[in-house]
Amino acid sequence: MKTTISEVYKYVEQEVKIGAWVANKRSSGKIAFLQLRDGTGFIQGVIVKSEVPEEVFQAAKSVTQESSLYVTGKIQKDERSPFGFELLVTGIEVIHAAVDYPITPKEHGTEFLMDNRHLWLRSRRQHAVMKIRNEIIRATYEFYNKQGFAKIDPPILTGSAPEGTSELFHTKYFDEDAYLSQSGQLYMEAAAMALGKVFSFGPTFRAEKSKTRRHLIEFWMIEPEMAFYEHEDSLKVQEEYVSHVVQSVLENCSLELKTLGRDTSKLEQVKAPFPRITYDEAIKFLHEKGFNDIKWGDDFGAPHETAIAESYDKPVFITHYPTSLKPFYMQPDPNREDVVLCADLIAPEGYGEIIGGSERIHDYDLLKQRLEEHNLDLDAYGWYLELRKYGSVPHSGFGLGLERTVAWISGVEHVRESIPFPRLLNRLYP
Ligand code: 4AD
Ligand code: MG
Repeated sequence: MKTTISEVYKYVEQEVKIGAWVANKRSSGKIAFLQLRDGTGFIQGVIVKSEVPEEVFQAAKSVTQESSLYVTGKIQKDERSPFGFELLVTGIEVIHAAVDYPITPKEHGTEFLMDNRHLWLRSRRQHAVMKIRNEIIRATYEFYNKQGFAKIDPPILTGSAPEGTSELFHTKYFDEDAYLSQSGQLYMEAAAMALGKVFSFGPTFRAEKSKTRRHLIEFWMIEPEMAFYEHEDSLKVQEEYVSHVVQSVLENCSLELKTLGRDTSKLEQVKAPFPRITYDEAIKFLHEKGFNDIKWGDDFGAPHETAIAESYDKPVFITHYPTSLKPFYMQPDPNREDVVLCADLIAPEGYGEIIGGSERIHDYDLLKQRLEEHNLDLDAYGWYLELRKYGSVPHSGFGLGLERTVAWISGVEHVRESIPFPRLLNRLYP
């Protein structure tokens, strides 16, 4: 029976045929072990010299790393294997013999692995991270579909810059200027006025000169937007969404988390509600902790966020940032003009901001004034302003950065491992 590694549990003590690659091997005079992978999982193939024809044993001994094979054999339960099964091999058919696979089981430097990203993806560790990424995406669709959100796709080529003009990728659009999308938010606001509750999932681009473990040039964002939702309503969606994603990964990716050596006790605590502190309280807290360099009106850097996150075992919302620090579209606090109704969600364990969100300005005159203050072209934003002319309502939304979320939940150090092909400051290859 032809099957995949993920399905072998159905064939215990039965003969199967699996298409696989050789991840690793070891052998002695009497026995050979092939670590096989087929994309769906990993399994050990055992070849006993005395029980198979000589040419099968020789094939197992001489096969090279990453060669592709059809292997036949009997599935057996194996308590010692993390996967629970092994394959007692009876036949090997080499499809393609690999020569000098560059990524050997020894240690390699980061730059070497990044140059070989197209191959590095095959490793057990990278496989686990990609499976967790996939589970987060699956759980995202599940959550929003269940809550009655419609998936809407904003454009990638745009004429506007929601998150400031300094980090834009510019391109020609025939005779016009265009930019790669930094965020679908403004379009999602239009969609929320048409469909009520919407979410997007797509690539976004920022020409950021930051070379940190949290920054990518191209990253994927999930952006929900909700009509008639005020600031506090949006925070509830955020904490329930993030809890759902974390609990789904714990439930469906236990093998992957184990492969990565992730301490899951920290993830188990991630259940709504999440703690909230205001920007003012955060500044006070940082002063108490000895961060004397920061003053009211300054943005937080990675060390500040990490210090704040360390006092909680769950993600923490920092709310009510100074207006001057945030984009033009955020709704001012009705009690205080100098702060806005916004929140950043800071992940535990030093992974930094995973969500940025706010209530949006819904008053026409105020939004127009803000566009002017930010020197934004009223013609390019005419359509966005017009949303406030016809049945304007309070509305809120947020953006979750997928790669930072994957890095946090997987426990990998750098976002370059949480996307299949990272685009970094100095990297466009492969
Ligand atoms: O805080 P940001 O800039 O918010 C927005 O773009 C809003 N328009 C979203 C919205 O309200 N619809 O970005 C949102 C999230 C951040 O919290 C972070 O997780 C991620 O996107 N992010 C990045 N991830 C990787 N590399 C970068 N360069 C990132 N910049 C932002
Ligand atoms: Mg932000």
